[in-house]
Amino acid sequence: VAEPDLAGRHVVISAGGTREPLDPVRFLGNRSSGKQGYALARTAVARGARVTLIEAGTGLPDPAGADVVRVGTAVQLREAVLKAAPDADVVVMAAAVADFRPAEYATGKIKKKDGEEAPALNLVRNPDILAEISAERARPGQLVVGFAAETDDVLANGRAKLRRKGCDLLVVNEVGERRTFGAEENEAVVLAADGRETPVPYGPKEALADTVWDLVSESLRSR
Ligand code: C5P
Repeated sequence: VAEPDLAGRHVVISAGGTREPLDPVRFLGNRSSGKQGYALARTAVARGARVTLIEAGTGLPDPAGADVVRVGTAVQLREAVLKAAPDADVVVMAAAVADFRPAEYATGKIKKKDGEEAPALNLVRNPDILAEISAERARPGQLVVGFAAETDDVLANGRAKLRRKGCDLLVVNEVGERRTFGAEENEAVVLAADGRETPVPYGPKEALADTVWDLVSESLRSR
C-alpha cells in the first residue's frame, strides 16, 4: 500500500486524445490510448488524493475512486479543465490535445461526388490549455504538469517546451509508431522548472506515474 502522501489534495488529470469532428461520422484524432493518464489517476487514488479524471476518447472503464468527466473535443476539454482547476492543488495534462480542428463542421455526412476534386480540409488552431492554465493559475501555489511526446531531439525540445508552456514539470518521452502510444510501458525524463531532470527507466506506466507524484508531493510539501 502506497503512503497516503496526497491525502487532502485534489488532483485534476486529463487523459486520452481529443476528437475533432468533421461531420457526424468522422473526426480527426490521434494515437493516444489514455493509459498513462489512467495510471496517474489510479496511483493518485492509491496515495490518498481526490481525483478528477477528464478523459477524451479512451473507451477505458472508470478507475475506481476517481470522478470521471467525459469530453470529446479540445474546446470541451478546456472547459472541463477550467471548471475543475479552481479547486485543484495539481493539474496534470496527460491528454493529447489536437492542436488544430476543422474550421467547419458539416451537419450532414460529407459525400464524394462523381467528377469532383477531393475537398480541401481547412483547419483552425485550438487553444493551448496547458499554456493557459500555467500562465493564469486558478489557485495560488497550484502545480501544473505537462507531457510532451517528441520524435527527435527529445531533451532539447523538452527543455524549450517547458519554458514555453510555463508549467512546473514536463514529462518528456520519445514516441514513434511502435513506441509509447497504446503500450503498457513508458520511458521518460521529468524536467522541472528549477532545472532538475529525473530520468525514468523503461517500465510500467504506473512507475512513471509514481515518479511524477513523488516530485509533486515533495513540491507541495515545500510550499
Ligand atoms: O505542444 P505539445 O502538444 O507538444 O504539448 C503537449 C502538452 O500540452 C501536453 O501536456 C498536452 O496535454 C498539452 N496541450 C494542451 N493544449 C493543446 C495542445 C497540447 O494543453 N492545444
